[in-house]
Amino acid sequence: MKAQKLVKIASATVLTLGVIALTGRLSAPPSVQAQDNHRGNHRDDGDASLVRIGFEIAPVPLNLEGKDPWKVGLGSFLVNAVGDCNGCHTGGGPPNFNYAAGGNPYFGQPTKTDPNTYLEGGTDFGPAVPPVPGVYPPPDYWLASGPYVGPDIITRNLTPDKTGRAEGGRTLEQFKEILRHGTDFDKIHLTCSEPPSDPTTATCLPPPVDGNLLQVMPWPGFHSMTDHQIEAIYEYLSAIPCIDNTTSTPPRGAPNELRNDCGVGQAVGADSSSEAPHRARRE
Ligand code: HEC
Repeated sequence: MKAQKLVKIASATVLTLGVIALTGRLSAPPSVQAQDNHRGNHRDDGDASLVRIGFEIAPVPLNLEGKDPWKVGLGSFLVNAVGDCNGCHTGGGPPNFNYAAGGNPYFGQPTKTDPNTYLEGGTDFGPAVPPVPGVYPPPDYWLASGPYVGPDIITRNLTPDKTGRAEGGRTLEQFKEILRHGTDFDKIHLTCSEPPSDPTTATCLPPPVDGNLLQVMPWPGFHSMTDHQIEAIYEYLSAIPCIDNTTSTPPRGAPNELRNDCGVGQAVGADSSSEAPHRARRE
C-alpha cells in the first residue's frame, strides 16, 4: 500500500516536471502557457509539444480571437504534420501545387507552403473510379460515347466564411460527421438511378459507388480520431484566413462549391494590416 502510494507520488511528480519542462519551451501565445497545466476539459498534457509544433508550422497567419489556442495548435499539427489536408485541398496546380514558387521540396528547394491557395480547394482527382472494361462501370453505363464514370472528384474549400466558422460555416456536428463517416452534406454527386441521357452534364456516380459519400477523401482513416482531435482540427480551420476561390474549376453541377463568402471588405486573418492573403483575395 505504502509502496503503491510512493509510486503514485513519484509518477505524479515526473508528470508535473514534464509539463513544466514543456511549458518552458512553448513559444506560442501566452494563453497557451497559462492553460498548459490545466487538466481535464479533454486536454491531454502529452499534447503540449504537438501544440507547440502546430504553431511553428502553421503556414498562414492565425486569428486566435475567441479561440482555444490549445486546440488551434493541436489542430494545426494534425492538419499540417499528419493529415496532409492541404496536399489535396490546395487550390494550386502544376508545377508547384501546394508549394510556393521556389519552395517546392520535390525540386530540392526549402519547403514553403503557398499561403495564397491554402485549403481553398479545387484539386481535381478525376473520376471516382476510372473505367476498367468488364468491371466498372456496369455494362449499361458503357454508352455509345464511351464509359460513363460520372463527374470528376474535386476537393472543396475548407477555409472559414464570414460567420467565422470552419469550412464555409459548417457546424462542428456536421464536421464530425464528415470526418468520421464521409457524409456529403452538399449531395453534389448522388448515385445514378439509371444511365444518364446526357453524360456531358450528368452529375451522378454509377453504382456501386455510393454517391452520398465523399470519394477520395480519407475519412475511413480519419474515422478513428478522437472527438478532441476532430474538435482541434475544426478550431484550427476556423482560425485560418478565408479564401473566396473563384478561379479553380468547381465540381460539375456545383458551381458555387468553392466560393466562400468572406464578408465584404472584411479581413478574416489575424493581422488585417499586413499584406498576407487573408481576405477575399480573388474578388
Ligand atoms: C487524398 C486527398 C485528401 C486528403 C488528404 C484530405 N481530403 Fe478532404 N476531401 C478530399 C476530396 C476529394 C473531397 C471531396 C470529395 C467528393 O466530392 O466526393 C474532400 C472533402 C472534404 C470535406 C467536405 C467538404 C464539404 O464541403 O462538405 C471536408 C470537411 C474535408 N474534406 C476535410 C479534410 C480535412 C480536415 C483533411 C485533413 C485532416 C482532409 N480533408 C484531407 C480529399 C482529401
